[in-house]
Amino acid sequence: MNTTSTVPATVSLGSNGPQVTPLGVGTWSWGDSLFWDYGKGYDQSQVREAFQASVEANITLFDTAEVYGLGESERLLGQFAQENNTEVAIATKYFPLPWRVSRESVREALTKSLERLQVDSIPLYQVHTPFSFFMNQETLMDALAEEFQQGRIEAVGVSNYSAGQMRKAHEYLQKRGVPLASNQVQYSLLNRKIESSGIWQTAQELGVAIIAYSPLAQGLLTGKYTGQENPAGARRLDPKFKPSGINKISPVINSLQKLGEKYQKTPAQVALNWLMSQGAIPIPGAKNAKQAQQNAGALGWQLDPEDTQVLERVSQPWLKG
Ligand SMILES: NC(=O)c1ccc[n+]([C@@H]2O[C@H](COP(=O)([O-])OP(=O)(O)OC[C@H]3O[C@@H](n4cnc5c(N)ncnc54)[C@H](OP(=O)(O)O)[C@@H]3O)[C@@H](O)[C@H]2O)c1
Repeated sequence: MNTTSTVPATVSLGSNGPQVTPLGVGTWSWGDSLFWDYGKGYDQSQVREAFQASVEANITLFDTAEVYGLGESERLLGQFAQENNTEVAIATKYFPLPWRVSRESVREALTKSLERLQVDSIPLYQVHTPFSFFMNQETLMDALAEEFQQGRIEAVGVSNYSAGQMRKAHEYLQKRGVPLASNQVQYSLLNRKIESSGIWQTAQELGVAIIAYSPLAQGLLTGKYTGQENPAGARRLDPKFKPSGINKISPVINSLQKLGEKYQKTPAQVALNWLMSQGAIPIPGAKNAKQAQQNAGALGWQLDPEDTQVLERVSQPWLKG
């Protein structure tokens, strides 16, 4: 068993991009009561502790978005970083809303995000989704390239982009001499579509980092859901959290549990370690210190190649969806 870490202390966001920790923290649930029930069962004091626990574990990459909690996630992150006098690497996102039709919209949205985050610049600014009905991609990429050149963002990323859309974004940015640093996509043992859709391969070819969102399949890969409980927020309507959904994923959970015993890790830590062994940067959401500490324990050790293969075999049905 390989217990010495082969995951580097930092990874680059794209070729020669900013260096960040190989594991980040997702902050969608911080301040969000639309999907996550923020304010019921957990609140500001718990997410503050999640922030502190992550930083104490040397995890400094935090993913947020202007739409999370309608700005509250960014506000909390900015506040916590100030309170702790800690420098963290924040990746936020621009949402292509219908009334955002000009380059000016990007400038204004970024200004507001930076104000909420209480910083002058950030390592990564991502386009949340590839909507291009209102502002075409070339105009959008031009506006982002301008911000890169002005120094308010150290790297440009996209999210939920297909292989073709990523290639286009890369091409538009390249015209301005700006690299495309990352594509943030759903990726976990229960969603491996990026491996079969060409996204992974294209990212490799273009030198684009893959940031894996919902890396614990919104909590399913922790193994704590049995189908009997009512998970918080919108997940209570999701069939994946019902008994038949839990039954379907039991081979994956059983393998994670078995490997967890072998390495003395939790299923969540094994699932996150597998993603890092693939070369992705997972950003698990954490609502409290315990979750943040546990997720941080995915670092500092490495699954043996034969064990990553076990997980690949058992999760094969999720290659297509
Ligand atoms: N770009 C996009 O379109 C997009 C979309 C989705 C997410 N994201 C980003 O990705 C981040 C992570 O994704 P996600 O929040 O959807 O899903 P996730 O990271 O797979 O799951 C997060 C949830 O799992 C549970 N959990 C996490 N760690 C745990 C632990 N150690 N033990 C027990 N339970 C644990 C928590 O919920 P409970 O305790 O309630 O179970 C937590 O809120 C988001 O915060 C966001 O930054 C981006």
